[in-house]
Amino acid sequence: AEHQDLAGLHFVITAGPTVEDIDPVRYLSNRSSGKMGYALAQQAVQRGAEVTLVSGPTHLHPVPGAKMMYVRSTTEMLSGVQQAMKDADVLIAAAAPADYRPVQVYRQKWKKADGLPQLELEQTPDILANVSLARKAGQTIVGFAAETRDAIAFGRRKLTEKGLDLIVVNDVSQPGAGFDVDTNQVILLTQSGEVDELPLMAKSNVADRILTRVKLMRSQKNGE
Ligand code: PMT
Repeated sequence: AEHQDLAGLHFVITAGPTVEDIDPVRYLSNRSSGKMGYALAQQAVQRGAEVTLVSGPTHLHPVPGAKMMYVRSTTEMLSGVQQAMKDADVLIAAAAPADYRPVQVYRQKWKKADGLPQLELEQTPDILANVSLARKAGQTIVGFAAETRDAIAFGRRKLTEKGLDLIVVNDVSQPGAGFDVDTNQVILLTQSGEVDELPLMAKSNVADRILTRVKLMRSQKNGE
């Protein structure tokens, strides 16, 4: 990657899953190892950016040089991101926040003798939609879309609905792409209609391609 080409920019990056408690021992979550988000943070640090990594629970080591912010629930991730966005230039949301949470959290462990627990679910807040509504002039917002079919169509819809500048679409049903693995195969879709289909590559290289695209979009916007 280019040397220090992101110096002067503050990136907020989300990674990993979030978890929503059902009772003191059980939770709802989404699949995510955190590898994609951590790779983005690592490459951004290497290229000279200031990086805040807002991370759900993962088994990964902290990224040296990044400011680590550890969160558990989607609401906590939202507050962390809102806090960090006060002086940030770019948000890249690679996390897989839990989309649903129990309306009521049982304070005691639910016992099998009590029968099946009734789980009434509600939606968690949408981090990207909230942040993009409150965005300051000059802030760039990048989302991911994890799809299992019609990836480009669903990705384009999320790009528009969440008010993003760029969306990184991955078909998580493809071998070597999506969760857990060290590689990913993504399609970059921009607000202006560009479609960039990247081959399967290491997540660190995917990260570099995304960062370079963000840098390019920002310099085009600033008329450089
Ligand atoms: O962590 P890895 O194991 O390396 O796997 C990487 C990954 C597959 C998790 C990653 O590449 C990825 O696709 N992340 C997005 C997962 C996801 O939640 O996708 P989604 O299509 O459900 O959400 C779309 C976008 O909205 C995402 O940017 C997500 O961060 C964001 N979102 C989702 C829910 C929510 N409540 N708030 C959000 O902001």
